[in-house]
Amino acid sequence: MGKVFQENDKRNTPIWFMRQAGRYLPEYRKLRQEKGSFLDLCFDPEAAAEVSLQPIRRFDLDFIILFSDILVIPFALGQNLRFVEGEGPVLGDLMAIEKLEKLNLEKCLKKIAPVFETLDILKQKKENKTLIGFCGAPFTVMNYMVEKGTSVSHHKILNFIRNQEKKAERLIYILQEISVLYLKKQIKAGAEVIKVFDSWAGILSENEYEKFVIKPNKYINDEIKKSNPNIKTTFFPRQSGDKVLKFIEQVKCDILAVDEKYPKKLKEEAKKRDIILQGNLNPEILLIGGPKMEKKINDILFDFRNNKHIFNLSHGVLPKTPVQNVTKTIDTVRNYESRKSTS
Ligand code: CP3
Repeated sequence: MGKVFQENDKRNTPIWFMRQAGRYLPEYRKLRQEKGSFLDLCFDPEAAAEVSLQPIRRFDLDFIILFSDILVIPFALGQNLRFVEGEGPVLGDLMAIEKLEKLNLEKCLKKIAPVFETLDILKQKKENKTLIGFCGAPFTVMNYMVEKGTSVSHHKILNFIRNQEKKAERLIYILQEISVLYLKKQIKAGAEVIKVFDSWAGILSENEYEKFVIKPNKYINDEIKKSNPNIKTTFFPRQSGDKVLKFIEQVKCDILAVDEKYPKKLKEEAKKRDIILQGNLNPEILLIGGPKMEKKINDILFDFRNNKHIFNLSHGVLPKTPVQNVTKTIDTVRNYESRKSTS
């Protein structure tokens, strides 16, 4: 198994990037064009594995992430899904909850079986790298299912959980069940670390956060740990602010991905619980590059010096990111380490 964290290694801050595969890479754009739609690419195991490996070949990153999307779960549940150029995901109408409850979830996952084949290919090609599988957290996936796409106001989802709470809870239950089954299958196919993306955790009030963020993420973590105690679990409850402290009290994860705004106490709390912190360079800085970017990278490495730390971004790599700024980021992280070990 690839190591998650290599202590006493000269390169002891492992590094990877959220959305490390994607449109900022010319080799991705080429393959994407050949395959037609984004979903076609996701469901072509050879091509998807190739996309996962593109950033590894170019940058020698420490982790390989499965190439897929969190929205394959609504697709597996029978909701229409397409990705529109320049617009993002567009989902069809949400099925009635009674109908969703009757679905055989194992059977639903057969619809997205190519994902497991992609992992199987990656497992054979990963060499010394660590392979990451992932899914969206129930609330974030439910957000897309109800909004039927990307939303700025989140009116529909907030309305849904506030006015149809019981229904929302029933949907969350289905999503947490299918997420656990899905992740277990990814682990069986070769994923060594799993990551659960809760991109919209930050829009909820404290009570809602407990019910729709902490509870389902805890369920997923506990279920995965029960059947696969050696698998490292990563959670990314984005923009949780101070609520992240409650999150780690309940969700006994191995790795916590953080954005730029985290509470002062988090570093100490993570250390106490032996949680690795992952993050947190703003991807916008990578658009500009230069000395400002290098200073920020060094500041982050210094900030997390007393924690176990995996270098990453606070959100995904942006499509307009110049490739040389990604190279420079990796060099800066690795040079910082060698400077540290020779001083
Ligand atoms: O390299 C990797 O990180 C692995 C692949 C990956 C993708 N999406 C590929 C992708 C992962 C881990 C995701 C997660 C994902 N998908 C999240 C959680 C993380 C986050 O960004 O908050 C979310 C919310 C989604 C849903 C999604 N997928 C949206 C809103 C969009 C449209 C916006 C955009 O960037 O185009 C996508 C499309 C998507 N997912 C692309 C990629 C490479 C772009 C597709 C293309 O080629 O046009």
